[in-house]
Amino acid sequence: MTPHSTSTSTLPVESGEKTLIIETDRLILRPMRMDDVEDLLEYQSHPDIVRYIPWPERTREQVVEAAEKLLATGKLDIKEEGDFLVLVWEIKAGESKGKVIGQSNMGLESSRDSCADIGWVTHQDFQRQGYAFEATHALMDYAFKNFPIRRLIANIDTRNPESAAMAAKLGMRREGEFIDAEMFKGSLCSMWLYAILKSEFRN
Ligand SMILES: CC(C)(COP(=O)(O)OP(=O)(O)OC[C@H]1O[C@@H](n2cnc3c(N)ncnc32)[C@H](O)[C@@H]1OP(=O)(O)O)[C@@H](O)C(=O)NCCC(=O)NCCS
Repeated sequence: MTPHSTSTSTLPVESGEKTLIIETDRLILRPMRMDDVEDLLEYQSHPDIVRYIPWPERTREQVVEAAEKLLATGKLDIKEEGDFLVLVWEIKAGESKGKVIGQSNMGLESSRDSCADIGWVTHQDFQRQGYAFEATHALMDYAFKNFPIRRLIANIDTRNPESAAMAAKLGMRREGEFIDAEMFKGSLCSMWLYAILKSEFRN
């Protein structure tokens, strides 16, 4: 598949701090804001969305709390071990213009190994339209060019083949299956490890 075109910029904001904007054909990937809470609540509270990710079905209060924590501790630049970045996906045009319909998460697991993990979530009403691929491919492209990342991984519950298919479409390789590896939401689950090296990524 031909990836969607992207452009990226690091723009100054009013406070004088920098922000990170990645633009694709249909989306603006940008840092979360507190006025995103209503959109975030729509999917972060949905059982199908959080089934295989380590969030509860969030209440409004929990969405606000998570967003505040992210604004306080999230980064725009991934440099040190433990640094993490969250970018929300805002629709650029059309009747849903301005709506946040998903998000990407990325964190530096090991600075010694230059290894980061990546995750993706699409609002339940906007799935199967290529948004997760479009956003994630653009973020991977940006991350390999701008962050000290040599290897990107995704840990995917084996009960979540849709997400595994997404990883494969991004060019990630299934490197292993870890049986009953995690106690997750009250039951043991097996995990697939997907990975891609910077040298393998095709933009
Ligand atoms: C996984 C998820 C992010 C996919 O989002 P999406 O926007 O629907 O994905 P896209 O439309 O960009 O699809 C990209 C590829 O993913 C795979 N895919 C996505 N949904 C799928 C489904 N329901 N069944 C099979 N494959 C699927 C396909 O390979 C698809 O490529 P294709 O359209 O050429 O077949 C979405 O289902 C989701 O948010 N799930 C809940 C949260 C979650 O589990 N996140 C991942 C944690 S590891």
